[in-house]
Amino acid sequence: MTRIVHTLGELRAVLSKMTGSIGLVPTMGFLHAGHLSLIHLSVSQNTNTVVSIFVNPTQFGPTEDLNKYPRDIDGDLVKINNAGECLVWIPDAGSMYADDHQTWVEVTKLTTTLEGAQRPGHFRGVTTIVSKLFNAVQPDKAYFGQKDLQQVSVIKRMVADLSYPIEIVVGKTIREADGLAMSSRNSYLNLEERKAAPILFRALSEAEKDFQQGERNASVLVAKVIAMIESEPLAQIQYVTCSDLKTLQQVSELTQPAAISLAVYFGKTRLIDNILLG
Ligand code: PAJ
Repeated sequence: MTRIVHTLGELRAVLSKMTGSIGLVPTMGFLHAGHLSLIHLSVSQNTNTVVSIFVNPTQFGPTEDLNKYPRDIDGDLVKINNAGECLVWIPDAGSMYADDHQTWVEVTKLTTTLEGAQRPGHFRGVTTIVSKLFNAVQPDKAYFGQKDLQQVSVIKRMVADLSYPIEIVVGKTIREADGLAMSSRNSYLNLEERKAAPILFRALSEAEKDFQQGERNASVLVAKVIAMIESEPLAQIQYVTCSDLKTLQQVSELTQPAAISLAVYFGKTRLIDNILLG
């Protein structure tokens, strides 16, 4: 049976009675199969799983979609219940951020590229809320999706730098049948945009194929991805970048593990995706 808590006091009371290991799956809700894969992973690896649902205001920019971010707590609870026995923590914004909140957790260098470059302040919001979730739950393991590649790197850096005794487990990107990476934001797409969006994974897969056949010139791979996406009139590229997997700095030659990451608009909807190379 799924248990639900809202306040920090309720959460601590339930946690204090738990025995065995704790896995934490942080989410912003409107759950899909990507989130559920992380919950399944945690349930299979831990005695207890805590799922947090919190649309974190501090990771949204002033012109971003905080107010229209999709929510469906009732549907989320049904999905979590089907996934296994979990403790669901649904804090309200007031309890996470006091009116005079002024303490931030910030990872510096890793957040200067890719999403960090396009969304100033985004990762400061992510690392601040995730460290608050870590402090409250004190999990043994925490689960994050490869879909948000830079988020994974930034969280791992924070865990190392702040000496959190937490293992970060990364789940692979779960996709729709046509390759589109699952995302709560896919619900913003109209029918035509939804039909066009799988071009992102098709383009990334082509680059992966070329990489597997020996191409090591990053600009050649990126140019191919851009050309394929540009053939789709509804797609507006924000960036397509090949980065070193460790530093997330742009690379020209693929000698170390790397990733091609992209952000592309379909109408007003901004989608991200990535593929690992090597
Ligand atoms: P949210 O976008 O709800 O995602 C919650 C977790 O699910 C993240 O770790 C994300 O990478 C993972 N996820 C999303 N789509 C996925 C997919 N298609 N396949 C696999 N995993 C996927 O990411 C956040 O929330 C927030 O930034 C959060 C970490 C909760 C902090 O507020």
